[in-house]
Amino acid sequence: MGRVVAAALLACILLPVACVRGRNITTILSGYKEYKLYNKYLSETKVCDEINDRQSTSMTILVLRDAAMSTLVSDAGDSLPAIKNALRLLAVLDYYDRKKVKKYGGERADTLFQATGDAVSATGNVRVTDVEDGAYGFASATAGADVSSVTKEVKTQPFRFAILELDAPIEFDGLFDTPSTANLTRLLERAGCKTFATLVAGNPGVLKDYEAAMETGLTLFAPNDAAFMAKGGVPDVTKMSSANVSALLRYHALPAYYPKPSLKAVKKDAALLTLAAKKTISVKANGDDVGLEAGGSKSRVADTVVDKAPFCLMTVDKLLVPAELAVAQAPSPAPAPAPSTSERRPADAPSDEAADHAADHHKAKKSTSSDSASSRPVGAAFAAAVGSVVLAAAVL
Ligand SMILES: *[C@@H]1O[C@H](CO)[C@@H](O)[C@H](O)[C@H]1NC(C)=O
Ligand SMILES: *[C@@H]1O[C@H](CO)[C@@H](O)[C@H](O)[C@H]1NC(C)=O
Ligand SMILES: *[C@@H]1O[C@H](CO)[C@@H](O)[C@H](O)[C@H]1NC(C)=O
Repeated sequence: MGRVVAAALLACILLPVACVRGRNITTILSGYKEYKLYNKYLSETKVCDEINDRQSTSMTILVLRDAAMSTLVSDAGDSLPAIKNALRLLAVLDYYDRKKVKKYGGERADTLFQATGDAVSATGNVRVTDVEDGAYGFASATAGADVSSVTKEVKTQPFRFAILELDAPIEFDGLFDTPSTANLTRLLERAGCKTFATLVAGNPGVLKDYEAAMETGLTLFAPNDAAFMAKGGVPDVTKMSSANVSALLRYHALPAYYPKPSLKAVKKDAALLTLAAKKTISVKANGDDVGLEAGGSKSRVADTVVDKAPFCLMTVDKLLVPAELAVAQAPSPAPAPAPSTSERRPADAPSDEAADHAADHHKAKKSTSSDSASSRPVGAAFAAAVGSVVLAAAVL
């Protein structure tokens, strides 16, 4: 028995990935039919990926039976992004159970809603409240909020992970507010993607397809303005036929909802279908960095501009160029990049190597011209990623 535990612990130390995949909230909740609706929305909003992504954080997931969940859905006006806000508020970033609350009393706790929103505001917090007798509950940290009582301790794994059933959703004024995405080109301009915005505005067919997909599932990787000015392999969009420009634009969109935590959950190197017919891009997540590869070009997710399920807009710092639109790299007068680095690169660059180099390469990359980046080893290219997330959805 002891040997089994020791082996499991050893596996965790040697193969963190094995443990990272250990706790899957969707799978756990699928064993409880009374939380079916809750689990369905957890998947549709992809909050499940955010929860699964925090394996090393102590968490308490506050779940609702179908009747209480229906109340939440109707309070949210049946809007998926609004429901997402509410579900993120129910994912508490600390461990709680009756014993702990009775021993230490109530306190304020962070939630996923607050974690990526405006950290200064207390509205994304919840207050854990000790009630007389054996009872305890959770409320919004805003003044005078109603307390939702814990009606069942569904699962408690002390100080690591708990699932507690509440009798009612936690709500506060403004919880269901979501950012306007009515004008996509304006959204792109404000995100520092003016060139991309102009191209989209000039291709009404593409804009129409984007807008239609925003209702059903769209992940848009918008290259920032610097991406269009990069040297080497970047096609001159001003000289491209409009058919090729639309192909390029469609190549930067997935007809499905993949906010950053969901991209991180995608199997390494899995090909994701884009809006360009039959064209795929692949994802290489490493820690908090999400690298993208397409037709020989490499990019990475820079910022999340808007996450409004089922639509997510992220900026990327390089163009994704399908092979047939790639331009042959003109011989550069700059000193040729050392070929030995790419020769030494193993076919599958180990991700931990990238992590090791992350700190070193990050600053260097920013000041180097991007034309040399394409010849860098895979690990270094992705290690340069920053991964700052500006989740506008939670704030606006
Ligand atoms: C969690 O489980 C669900 C279904 O049980 C599955 O679709 C999903 O891929 C799993 N997520 C991870 C990160 O393994
Ligand atoms: C959307 O925004 C752009 C740029 O800000 C503007 O030119 C355009 O008129 C707007 N479109 C609509 C329909 O309001
Ligand atoms: C644009 O597409 C055409 C064929 O559809 C191709 O011949 C041409 O080379 C492409 N232009 C660029 C810049 O790749």
